[in-house]
Amino acid sequence: MEEKKRRIVVTSALPYANGDIHIGHLVEYIQTDFWVRFQKMRGNECVYVCADDTHGTPIMIRARKEGITPEELIARSHAEHLKDFTDFQINFDNYYTTNSPENKALSEQIYKAAESKGYITRKTTPQLYCEKCQMFLPDRFVKGVCPKCGAEGQYGDSCDKCGSTYAAEELGNPKCTTCGSSPVVKDSEHLYYELEPQHEYLENWIPSHTTSDVSNKLLEWFKEPLRGWCISRDAPYFGFEIPGFKDKFFYVWVDAPVGYIASLKNAGKFDMWNDPEVELYHFIGKDIIRFHCLFWPGMLNAAGFKGPTKVFVHGFLTVNGEKMSKSKGTFVSARTYLENLPAEALRYYYAAKLGGTTDDMDLNLSDFVQRVNSDLVGKITNIASRGGQMLQKKLGGMLGSMDEEGRALVQKCIDAGELIAKHYEERKFNQVVVEICRLADAANEYFDKCQPWKSIKTDEEATRTQLTAALNAFRIIAIYLKPILPEYAKKAMKLFGESEWAWSSVKETKENCALGEYEYLANRIDIKQVEAMVEAAKVKPGESGEVSHESRASKNKKEEVSQKNEVEPLKSEIAFSDFEKLDLRIGVIESCEIVPKSSKLLKFVLDAGSLGKRTIFSGIRQAYPEPEKLVGKEVVFVANLAPRKMSVGVSEGMILFAGVPGENGGILSPSSAAFGGTSVT
Ligand code: MSP
Ligand code: ZN
Repeated sequence: MEEKKRRIVVTSALPYANGDIHIGHLVEYIQTDFWVRFQKMRGNECVYVCADDTHGTPIMIRARKEGITPEELIARSHAEHLKDFTDFQINFDNYYTTNSPENKALSEQIYKAAESKGYITRKTTPQLYCEKCQMFLPDRFVKGVCPKCGAEGQYGDSCDKCGSTYAAEELGNPKCTTCGSSPVVKDSEHLYYELEPQHEYLENWIPSHTTSDVSNKLLEWFKEPLRGWCISRDAPYFGFEIPGFKDKFFYVWVDAPVGYIASLKNAGKFDMWNDPEVELYHFIGKDIIRFHCLFWPGMLNAAGFKGPTKVFVHGFLTVNGEKMSKSKGTFVSARTYLENLPAEALRYYYAAKLGGTTDDMDLNLSDFVQRVNSDLVGKITNIASRGGQMLQKKLGGMLGSMDEEGRALVQKCIDAGELIAKHYEERKFNQVVVEICRLADAANEYFDKCQPWKSIKTDEEATRTQLTAALNAFRIIAIYLKPILPEYAKKAMKLFGESEWAWSSVKETKENCALGEYEYLANRIDIKQVEAMVEAAKVKPGESGEVSHESRASKNKKEEVSQKNEVEPLKSEIAFSDFEKLDLRIGVIESCEIVPKSSKLLKFVLDAGSLGKRTIFSGIRQAYPEPEKLVGKEVVFVANLAPRKMSVGVSEGMILFAGVPGENGGILSPSSAAFGGTSVT
């Protein structure tokens, strides 16, 4: 019996348009993307919408500082954000903006509905006003002395030192953070959205639409009458003017969530919002619970709109156990990350750490390198690279059929599917990864037990049978990984000559057919790349931390590798601990060929035993006019050098070569490296 296709709308919180996307934000967008991709693979209709959150004082101020209009600023941010998301393989069905006609109309509609129910009240309150900037100052735009503890330089809402909260007018010696002048106190009339009329509705709504830790906290406020929240801001403000008022604007948090509906509408799917059959989920961070689980369901309910089915709340990212820090270089923008490391490494690591709870999540940078290298590359990808390359090179690239033991391995992988699906559904991505690693362990055990690198010499067909099972196990694992690693899965799909994978594709096996060419699926990462990223993200004391667009571009320039031809002086001394980092291994040259159009390069393929095959490009062609004669020779190579992308391919190590540049020299070969007699071929 076929299961009924679910219809689902999913959102991530809308990032503010006044800053770069950073690795903290990505905790949210990446996990939402996992979940959406999973739903799509299951055959459900799932629409993922998001947008830039474009309104508010900080955006206005920032545009002023840069001498551009807010519209220009938000257009630039939109393009940058979308590029960052796309490069992290986050696949929105629509990425819109809150500064849109759809959003204006819907915000007005939702506001007017509340007004007609009598939920909007007016109050005159004293507020700090900067006469120089000609604006009322939001809490974060004024600093002064804390009225409770006397600490200096505190913002207008709360004190960093003693933690007390207060009104901005209570600050001692307040100063406008934009121009430094002293603001005055001025009365202003404001609009409030009263929540008390929906006290009972919300008290019932919250526990059934959030997890218990979230709802328990929120429900504490329900012991007393609910307070209204201020939804208006005075001009100058970048936002939507409130209907019936001049120079009064909706506070950004009014039109921001409406932006979810506006983005859906812009995608031509507006009807889905209120369709009782459609499920609706918001992914948000724990800092914005109040807006999504209190104000928002209230606003929707009052306007006759459906509320979310569930709000999924995640925790905050820490790096090496601490809050992200600009001075420590752990406040890393999406772009800086991408300039140094592959997107899928972070996707994999986040998956391995996310358990669907509101707990904070730590990105430990050395654990990150270790997990990606040992699990994703060493454990999972290794099955395909060992099996795929051997089948290609030795067995004509043809898969055979499986024997009983092989079939049992593959069946085990198929059987894990529903458990893995359950974990995906519950957003326990860490459990998904645990199960997948278990399957990869089983496949590796099978591979090591069969020892195809030995049996290939005596029984090709038995080897084909074994490789077929190992590769089918890998195929299923790659299908399960597809929501987490979409590009990786795409390459794996090509290996098996397939064009799309659904969740149910695991039930097929690939036997007696040709395997496609083996392409690199994932590369090892190096702590050096992480160090370079942290260095690039570091903000020196005194710098604001805002990366200008010029410096962004110049940072992009990669250092050029100098290829000097004269005898060079020794490089500066290195510590023993640097030397120790080298993992030197022995490999046998399986093939060595001239690289077309290059006067220097030779392409080596080494058989590195338990490490599998390694392709290495080396600029030593001049020393070997007949490179094919090197086949079969043993060489020493650096096995843990970060793979390097070259125009001709990826080089996965460095073969040791010694000699005087311009004169003779040769590869170091262990087979003839007896004392005093290193062979310089
Ligand atoms: N613009 C509002 C959301 C409006 S939704 C109608 C906003 N923007 S934000 O850019 O500050 O944050 C966007 C999302 O990223 C939020 O869900 C927030 O919790 C999340 N994160 C921002 N920094 C984060 C971490 N350091 N760690 C995890 N998530 C973080 O809030
Ligand atoms: Zn000012």
